[in-house]
Amino acid sequence: MTADRLVVPPMPLEEVPERWRALRAAGPVRYEESLGVWQVVDYENVAAVLADPATFSSDLSSLAPTQEDFDTFTQGNFVGMDPPEHRRLRTLVSQAFTPRVVAGLGPRIEALCARLLAEVADRDRFDLVESLAYPLPIIVIAELLGIPAEEHLLFQEWASVLFSGDQLGEAPDAADLERALEAIAPTIREMNGYMLQHIRERRAHPGEDLTSKLIAAEVEGVHLEDQQMVGFVALLLVAGHVTTTALLGNAVVTFDRHPGTDAALRADPGLLPTAIEEVLRWLPPFPELGRRVAKPVVLGGHELAVDTMVMTNLGAANRDPSRFAAADVFDVTRNPNPHLTFGHGIHFCFGAPLARLEARIALRMLQERFRSLVVPSYEDVTYQNPAVILGVRRLPVEVVRQ
Ligand code: HEM
Repeated sequence: MTADRLVVPPMPLEEVPERWRALRAAGPVRYEESLGVWQVVDYENVAAVLADPATFSSDLSSLAPTQEDFDTFTQGNFVGMDPPEHRRLRTLVSQAFTPRVVAGLGPRIEALCARLLAEVADRDRFDLVESLAYPLPIIVIAELLGIPAEEHLLFQEWASVLFSGDQLGEAPDAADLERALEAIAPTIREMNGYMLQHIRERRAHPGEDLTSKLIAAEVEGVHLEDQQMVGFVALLLVAGHVTTTALLGNAVVTFDRHPGTDAALRADPGLLPTAIEEVLRWLPPFPELGRRVAKPVVLGGHELAVDTMVMTNLGAANRDPSRFAAADVFDVTRNPNPHLTFGHGIHFCFGAPLARLEARIALRMLQERFRSLVVPSYEDVTYQNPAVILGVRRLPVEVVRQ
């Protein structure tokens, strides 16, 4: 890897859909020689792949480079597992992370948003990511797990090291991934040790938090092992933090890019839920999901061999004109909106209700606190590595006072 591959190219969000269009034009299922993967870009085939875990496995460990600390760390990470192990772990965790637990978080999320927004109340300009979109979801997860407030910063540091994507280029190969794993190994060890100690402490003194509930969860006499709980916490951080940060930033950018949206939402606040679904369709934070071909299959007229990699492109599928009327129009009233942004099938996002709740509260409170927010210059906006996550990294916004 040359040094310049370490530099993440700026990728304005608007450029990515152009790529999706080009991919769709090249055919629904296509082997991309340069990456050595099958790219699936139409709605029907993406949904079919995600709905068939027996053929398209989520266990990519035989294809990806590995690292000892990382292997231990990901034991409870059921997003990378197939049935029956996936079902066993997901069922155990669902006992602790119930819809009631999520619904009960509403008042706390409001209080957190109020606190974070109070810090920028007097400013004419602030970075929306730094001030709200980044800290909010991570504090919610840390609090949910019963992590003391003074240690929330640790979670923020770990999350930023683990998921920055800074070690990766735009089209990472196996060597890039291996290097990236080596670079994050010390963070993994630190987090592993911290979480194991937190679990031991909760075992001795159970509380009302998710960690205590995970310890108590049981299916047919089977409990989660400590290391599996650590892996699940890591999964919450990967799946639940950066994605929600991205959703909030993507919403503000997309509303800004579509004049009239803010006014429409203020005139009818009841539109916010469908507007959030439309932002999810428009710019999915995880734009691609990988699967491994577990048995020979024909997809889109192509024969796919065992142990090849399939990348399902949710962004392209979400704009497939055969599934969505006026697919390239951002429409905050779109309903129904069967986007694939939270996945499909057995791995459907476990935290979707939490992500939706956080987005509704945060975006409503932004509207209440500020008469209007604009992005004054897109020159100052920076972006995540789109190979990892589709979202902004820095989003300076200006408060319009009238
Ligand atoms: C799974 C997206 C927020 C926890 C997934 C998957 C997607 C996704 C696409 C499926 C992965 C696959 O099939 O390989 C998102 C997006 C979010 C979000 C776009 C925010 C906008 C959250 C939150 C949490 C969470 C807030 C928890 C706090 C999970 C978990 C899984 C998952 C545990 C694994 C489910 C399984 O394998 O059975 N998410 N997610 N996600 N998500 Fe989310």
